[in-house]
Formats: sequence, structure tokens, C-alpha cells
Amino acid sequence: MLPLTLLLPLSAIVLPVHGEVVKNGSTCIVTPLSDTNAAFAVPRSDGGGLARATVDDTPQILSAFSQCGQDGTIILRPGTYHIRQVMDTTNLRNVSVEIYGTLIWSADNLSYWRQKSFSVTYAGRQTAWRIGGRDIALRGFGQAVFDGNGQAWIDLARGASNLDGRPISLTVWHGTNVLIDGITWRMAQFWHTFVAYSQNVTMTNLVMNTLSSNSYSSQNTDGTDTWNSKDITISNWTVTCGDDCIAIKGNSSNVHVSNVVCHESGAMTIGSVGSNARQPDYVENIVFENITAIHSSNSAWIKTYPGTGYVRNVTFRNIYGEDVNQPIYVTSCIYSYQNCDSSHLAISDIRWENITGTSRYNVAAAIHCSGAAPCDNLHFSDINIKPKNGGTAKVLCSNIKNQATMGLQCTGPCPGSHPQQLSGNV
Ligand SMILES: *[C@@H]1O[C@H](CO)[C@@H](O)[C@H](O)[C@H]1NC(C)=O
Ligand SMILES: *[C@@H]1O[C@H](CO)[C@@H](O)[C@H](O)[C@H]1NC(C)=O
Ligand SMILES: *[C@@H]1O[C@H](CO)[C@@H](O)[C@H](O)[C@H]1NC(C)=O
Ligand SMILES: *[C@@H]1O[C@H](CO)[C@@H](O)[C@H](O)[C@H]1NC(C)=O
Ligand SMILES: *[C@@H]1O[C@H](CO)[C@@H](O)[C@H](O)[C@H]1NC(C)=O
Ligand SMILES: *[C@@H]1O[C@H](CO)[C@@H](O)[C@H](O)[C@H]1NC(C)=O
Ligand SMILES: *[C@@H]1O[C@H](CO)[C@@H](O)[C@H](O)[C@H]1NC(C)=O
Ligand SMILES: *[C@@H]1O[C@H](CO)[C@@H](O)[C@H](O)[C@H]1NC(C)=O
Ligand SMILES: *[C@@H]1O[C@H](CO)[C@@H](O)[C@H](O)[C@H]1NC(C)=O
Repeated sequence: MLPLTLLLPLSAIVLPVHGEVVKNGSTCIVTPLSDTNAAFAVPRSDGGGLARATVDDTPQILSAFSQCGQDGTIILRPGTYHIRQVMDTTNLRNVSVEIYGTLIWSADNLSYWRQKSFSVTYAGRQTAWRIGGRDIALRGFGQAVFDGNGQAWIDLARGASNLDGRPISLTVWHGTNVLIDGITWRMAQFWHTFVAYSQNVTMTNLVMNTLSSNSYSSQNTDGTDTWNSKDITISNWTVTCGDDCIAIKGNSSNVHVSNVVCHESGAMTIGSVGSNARQPDYVENIVFENITAIHSSNSAWIKTYPGTGYVRNVTFRNIYGEDVNQPIYVTSCIYSYQNCDSSHLAISDIRWENITGTSRYNVAAAIHCSGAAPCDNLHFSDINIKPKNGGTAKVLCSNIKNQATMGLQCTGPCPGSHPQQLSGNV
């Protein structure tokens, strides 16, 4: 029997210690609060044994960033860090951030995150953590875990798309020369990562795993989205998520994606681009290679709204899919399936090389380009996609300038209304 005094409600417990960042020269070492003080172990109000009180490690982490975020090293020692506040660490310079612990973002007050998360401009989206500045390495050594308590967000959104204020886990914001390596995400709040207004960003050896455990879908849990950024390298990722795995959005250039395995996702996509008719979106010089897409919606695809700008010089190479709903897909009118032939967003110089595996239904490729801006210079080689239940796969095409010489035999037209995902053979 526990002494009566321990049976106070959690809110009545006054936390006695402050975060201790130990600074030694230019290195700041952070130890999780809940590991330093046994007083944090309190009985759960539901009688279910011991739990931690509402510890918040955010102040000490932010203190380490302000003390050692320029010409320094920040070390988060092993253990569990409770993140209860937004983090804006955008003035970094020449810093190595070394994370050995698990960071858990709180989910007992989702209104807090919806109100306080930082705007990232794109489509009104927000983020719980922005990092920016120059010469930044954020490494997890295969040990760091970022746990966004995403099921709470999936349940709040109830399957609706883009719930306002639902925060992106980590955003690279106005960052130059940034390395992110060796981190595992589980149950991210929204997109796992976002790269915006940044240059020379390398993201390697990342694992992401966010799937709903109930009937609400885990949509908007993209692995990453890039926007208004250039010179990006993405390599060695394993992603399980309910939405796009790697999505290259407007004004992205020189992006190289390789050795990525995606489960349950939209795999490799350009888009959505062209959402704002008043602003052109430019995407160019993109390579996706050595990609595996398992039980995915699509695998090598381009989605635009009827907008302006261009998508050009994109290569999808060595892409293997298993049970992919519609592996190759191009649309000029994503989501609305309207005004499909009035888009002026030009798609040209796109290569699909060595795209193999199985489709869920009898379509390997469905390509609807805008009548007002037909696709040009599409090139296909070594396309070998078979329906998983046998038979031959169709290739549907509309408004492709070089259709006769593109290297793939079309079997019929692709109307603008042809959906991104099929529910059976067509
Ligand atoms: C501070 O760092 C130096 C050099 O890395 C090390 O020799 C020393 O033991 C450290 N001091 C403390 C108090 O940890
Ligand atoms: C970067 O920071 C380290 C300390 O972490 C320092 O030794 C080094 O001189 C800095 N580099 C530059 C270019 O300032
Ligand atoms: C939740 O966060 C909001 C916004 O910061 C705040 O106004 C409110 O008091 C918080 N609610 C609780 C129960 O802490
Ligand atoms: C790009 O960033 C990396 C660090 O991630 C750095 O080593 C490299 O020098 C940078 N490249 C250029 C061209 O500045
Ligand atoms: C990718 O993973 C392989 C195998 O683990 C490793 O050898 C390689 O160095 C990694 N690449 C990068 C860029 O980290
Ligand atoms: C993309 O870049 C162009 C040209 O710099 C600019 O006019 C446009 O506003 C940008 N689009 C977005 C969505 O930022
Ligand atoms: C196309 O993109 C590739 C990969 O980024 C790049 O090497 C090549 O120079 C680009 N071609 C043109 C014509 O810009
Ligand atoms: C992709 O795979 C091909 C064939 O296995 C290999 O030659 C190439 O080096 C790989 N590319 C990368 C970036 O790993
Ligand atoms: C085609 O891609 C597969 C991976 O999907 C790779 O194993 C194979 O080596 C590639 N073939 C060629 C000729 O590069």
C-alpha cells in the first residue's frame, strides 16, 4: 500500500528540479529530467501503477541550443525526453546535434500544438520544430527516436485531410548545409519532415513508421516534402506511412533520392504542384533511383493542379513495386479532376527507366496531360509491370506530344477523370 500522500492528482505535484544542461567548453550535454529525479515517479490517477508526472524537457533542450547552437556541440544523452513546447532553433551555425535518446511530443493538449506551432507558409501548414541556419548536423546514430504521439492526431483528424494546425514533426527552415542522419520516427504528428527555403540538405539513414492502429486513415503522414529548396540528397530511408513517401513540391531543384523502401505509401511523387494559380511552381533536375514500393498507391508519379510553371528533367530509375494500385500516374488536375485540359503547368523531359513489379489491378500506367500544355519528351525503357492476379497491364495515355516515340505502347486514352487510385480492373 502506497502512503496516502502519494495519491495526489498529478496536477498537484510541484516539480522540484530545473533542467540541468551541463556546459563544458563549447559542448552542452543534456540529460532527460525524468531520468534524473526519482520524485517524478508518481502513481497514475487511474490506479494503473507508476507513471511520470508532466515533465517538460523542452526548456533545457532550448537552453542547450542557445548556449551551444553556434560553433558548438549539443548532446542529448540516452533516455526519454518529454517535449511539451514548440521549438524554434533557426539561428544555428556550425553545430553538431547528437541525439541518443527518445523524444516524445505531448498529446494531452492538442490545442496547444494547433495554436502555437510555427507557420511554414506552404498551404497554411505548421510545424512543431523548425531548425535553420548553416552548417548543421543533426544525428541520431540509429538510436534517436522521435515519437509524435501521432495516433492522437489521427484520431483528432478522424480521417479528414490537412487538419489545420496539425504540426509537421521537423522542418528544415532557411537551412544551408544541413545533415540529418540516423533518426527513427514513430507515429509522427503529421508529415515527418519538411524542407523549405533551404539549400544543400542531406537526409540519410532515416526510418519512419506512422500507421493508424484504428479505422481512421493515417493520411498526411508524408515521409518528406521539399519546397522552395535545392541541392537535396535523400538516401537510405525505410518509410511506412499512409501518404506520400517522398514528395517534391514547387520550386524544388537538384534533388537526388536513392535507396528508399516505402510501405503503404504514395512512394515517389512530384507534387502536388500548381495549387496556387497566381504563383508558378518550378520543379527540375530530380532523380529517384533504387526505390522499392510495397503495397503502395502509386510508385513513380506526377501530380499537378491546373496551374502554371513547369516540371522538367525528372528521372525515375530502378523502381520495383509490389501490389501497387497504379504504379505510373500523371495527372494535370489532381484531387478535383476538373479543368484537366486547361492547365498550363508544362511537364517535359521525364524518364521512367527499369520500372518493374506488380500492379494491384490491370493498369501499369495512366497519364493524362493537359490539352493546353501536352507533355513532351516522355521516355520509357524497361517497363515490366504485371497485374498481380495475372493478365496484361494497360497503359492509358492522353495529350503526350511524343507518344509515338516515347518507348511505351499506349493501349487506350486516359480521361482527365481517371482517378489516382483504382478500386478494380478497368
Ligand atoms: C570537459 O571536456 C574535456 C575535454 O573534452 C574533458 O577532458 C573534461 O573531463 C570535461 N569536464 C567535465 C567536467 O566533464
Ligand atoms: C566550429 O565549431 C567548433 C567547435 O564546436 C570549432 O572548433 C570550429 O573552429 C568551428 N568552425 C568554424 C569554421 O568556425
Ligand atoms: C492547452 O493549450 C492552450 C494553448 O496554449 C492553453 O490555452 C490551455 O490552457 C491548455 N489547456 C490545458 C488543459 O493545459
Ligand atoms: C553541403 O553540406 C555538407 C554538410 O552536410 C557539407 O559537408 C558540404 O561541404 C556542403 N556542400 C557545399 C557545396 O557547401
Ligand atoms: C546506406 O546504407 C548502407 C548499408 O547500411 C551503408 O553502407 C551506406 O554507407 C549508407 N549510405 C549513406 C549515404 O549513409
Ligand atoms: C516559385 O518561384 C517563383 C520564381 O522565383 C516565384 O515567382 C513563385 O512565387 C514561387 N512559388 C512559390 C509557391 O513560392
Ligand atoms: C537533368 O538533371 C540531372 C540530375 O539532376 C542533371 O545532372 C542534368 O544536368 C540535368 N539536365 C539538364 C539539361 O539540366
Ligand atoms: C542504384 O542501383 C544500381 C544498380 O544496382 C547501382 O549501379 C547504382 O550504383 C545504385 N545507385 C545508388 C545511388 O545507390
Ligand atoms: C533494375 O532495377 C532493379 C531494382 O528495382 C535492379 O535490381 C536492377 O539491377 C536494375 N536493372 C538494371 C539493368 O539496372
